[in-house]
Formats: sequence, C-alpha cells, structure tokens
Amino acid sequence: MNSLAPCCRFAVIASLLLTCAMLIVAGCAPNAAGEIISPDLGPKLVLAQSAGNVVVEPTPVPPKLAELAPDQVFAGVADDVRQTIEGADVAAAETLALQYGCVGCHAVDPNEVKTGPTWHNMGDTAIVRVAGESPAQYLYESIVNPNAFITPGYPGNIMPQNFKDTMTAQEIGDMVAYLLQQNGQP
Ligand code: HEC
Repeated sequence: MNSLAPCCRFAVIASLLLTCAMLIVAGCAPNAAGEIISPDLGPKLVLAQSAGNVVVEPTPVPPKLAELAPDQVFAGVADDVRQTIEGADVAAAETLALQYGCVGCHAVDPNEVKTGPTWHNMGDTAIVRVAGESPAQYLYESIVNPNAFITPGYPGNIMPQNFKDTMTAQEIGDMVAYLLQQNGQP
C-alpha cells in the first residue's frame, strides 16, 4: 500500500479544504455588474424587462406668463375687474404696497425673508398655484379673499382679510397688474 507520510496527507487535505473555501467565497461574491437594491431599481427593472421600449416622460415644465395669450392670463376674471387690471397704473402700485402695508410682509427681492411669500416672479408663480385658475384670477383672489388658498409653507389668517373693503377696485387692479409684471426675473 502506497501510503503517504502523515504530514503529506495533512497537506493534501488542507489544500483541498482551501480550494473548497475559495470556491464558496467566489460563489457568494456579488456580481459587480448586477443591479443593487436602490430606490430607482424599480424603474430600471421595468426598463430592462421592456427591452428599452419604455418612454420616460420628462417632468412637464410649467409655462411662463410671457408665453400665455391674454385670454389665458385673464381666464375667469370678471369683465369689470379685467378692465381695472388692463387699465392699471402700474407705477402707482409701489406706493399702494407701502400705503396698505403689503411690503411689511412681502418683498420683491427673493433673498429678503418676510412673513409672506416673495413677490419675485409672482406672475409666473401665479400660473401654477391653483390648478385651473388663471394667474390674474389667482392674484385677484389672493388680495380680496386671502384665505381661499393658503400659499404652501406660510401661515393662513395673517394677511389682512379686508382689502376688498379698504382698497378701491382700481387700486386692487393696479396691484394685480404690478404683480403680473413680476415675471421672467432671473
Ligand atoms: C401681515 C402680513 C401681510 C400683509 C400686510 C399682506 N400680506 Fe399678502 N400674504 C401674507 C401671507 C402670510 C401670505 C401667505 C399665506 C396666504 O396665502 O394667506 C400672503 C399671500 C399673498 C399672496 C399670494 C402669494 C403666493 O405666492 O401665492 C399675494 C399675491 C399677496 N399676499 C398679496 C398681498 C398684497 C397685494 C398686499 C397688500 C395690499 C398684502 N399681500 C399684504 C401676509 C401679508
């Protein structure tokens, strides 16, 4: 019988065990090219399973005020109110904003933090505030009926509720025209 010396037998067994261990480790190692579980794994798998046929829709970009036709800007606004806005004295609005205390809570400068939302690009923002409400109608409502829609992130019931009584119709029209003009600002 060709028996190996005990030390050689040990060496053979040890090398067999080592090979097995390496095979197990290699088998368990993650596939570097495989997908890892992450929040966007779902969409990736859908894409992979559809063989690249899924069309990923871009997030819609809201239109800017300058791109709207006048009837889109004024949709839903009562005729008499529209007249006050279209015939507005925009230059008077800054004085009105001081006179009625608007500037205590609102600033056109986006870096100036106040109690109320900024008026920077207010004309553009007014398009997207309330679905289906035109920017002129939204701004008019914001002044005469502030609680109809509370701007997200701001407290309700802070803005005076009685501008409809304290301001003249033309003054409100002047303010709406001025706020519409705050658009396309860098
Ligand atoms: C005492 C503070 C205060 C005063 C004064 C004030 N506002 Fe406001 N205004 C707010 C706050 C707070 C909000 C946001 C919460 C809400 O929608 O009522 C707001 C919201 C608005 C919005 C909507 C803004 C947006 O981003 O959706 C407009 C427009 C506006 N105010 C115009 C005016 C005008 C015009 C005047 C003056 C005639 C005025 N505010 C006076 C506090 C004020």
